[in-house]
Amino acid sequence: MDIPYLRWHPTIEKRRSRRRFDANRPIERDKLSALDAACRQFTPFPAARAYLVTDPVKDVFKGIVGSYGKIKGAPAFIAFIGNMDSTSVQEEVGYTGEGIILEATALWLNTCWVAGFFRNEVVASLIEIKSNERVLAVTPVGYSPGVESLEEKLMTFFGRTHRRLPVSRLVIKPDRDDLPQWIKASLEAARLAPSAVNRQPWGFDIAEDSITVYVRTGGREFAVSKRLDCGIAMLHIEVAAMSFGVRGKWQFLEAPQVARFNHGQNG
Ligand SMILES: Cc1cc2nc3c(=O)[nH]c(=O)nc-3n(C[C@H](O)[C@H](O)[C@H](O)COP(=O)(O)O)c2cc1C
Repeated sequence: MDIPYLRWHPTIEKRRSRRRFDANRPIERDKLSALDAACRQFTPFPAARAYLVTDPVKDVFKGIVGSYGKIKGAPAFIAFIGNMDSTSVQEEVGYTGEGIILEATALWLNTCWVAGFFRNEVVASLIEIKSNERVLAVTPVGYSPGVESLEEKLMTFFGRTHRRLPVSRLVIKPDRDDLPQWIKASLEAARLAPSAVNRQPWGFDIAEDSITVYVRTGGREFAVSKRLDCGIAMLHIEVAAMSFGVRGKWQFLEAPQVARFNHGQNG
């Protein structure tokens, strides 16, 4: 499946993690089919896949560390699964999973990446997982109430966990000021990517025809790979670039670099 960039680009700004769902509002059948089709068809890397589970979601989500509250009321969830034999599995799962999250957002559904605070054994009992695979993250899917409850507001410190660093803090300055529009749009899209505990671990090195994503030093570890967060930012970069008519290809790199998006190498 090609990236439906016109459909996904506007959702980058719209998406927001939600942790409370309306248990009495099921997801319509046509939306479930669309989401299931996206999970099956959006497989840009052989080592990453997404799987929609519509069984009752009881017991999948654990509670609560600091502001991280238990997810409640979701009628479905999606598991993001990686083949651990791939050296770039974390970024591949981040990239693939975020495609599915943006598709859910385009369907007006709410989501929240959860990596760590879910019961792996419960998820594994609902999905066939091969011996070299692991569920690296999950997301609840459903409808959240239009207005956040006080409980949910408290969990996000009244929206603070949604705040982002300015692009100027994330970019190794190129030796020119007049960056092409596609690079500006891609950096803005990457900046808005979600990350575990909102740590925004990415940095960007800009050249004439490429954006290199790397892991900045410092920031919270939180038992979730920063490369997974960077994979999410990679998808945002490509979606924005495509919206400006730019096609490219990703080249995976060794740590602390993650990957380089090369403009002009037909993706
Ligand atoms: C890889 C990853 C793991 C996350 N894990 C959790 C989690 O375990 N529990 C939770 O409540 N939120 C989790 N989040 C959601 C982040 O806290 C959230 O994306 C971040 O604070 C930015 O807020 P926003 O998504 O509303 O823009 C996770 C996000 C990512 C990308």
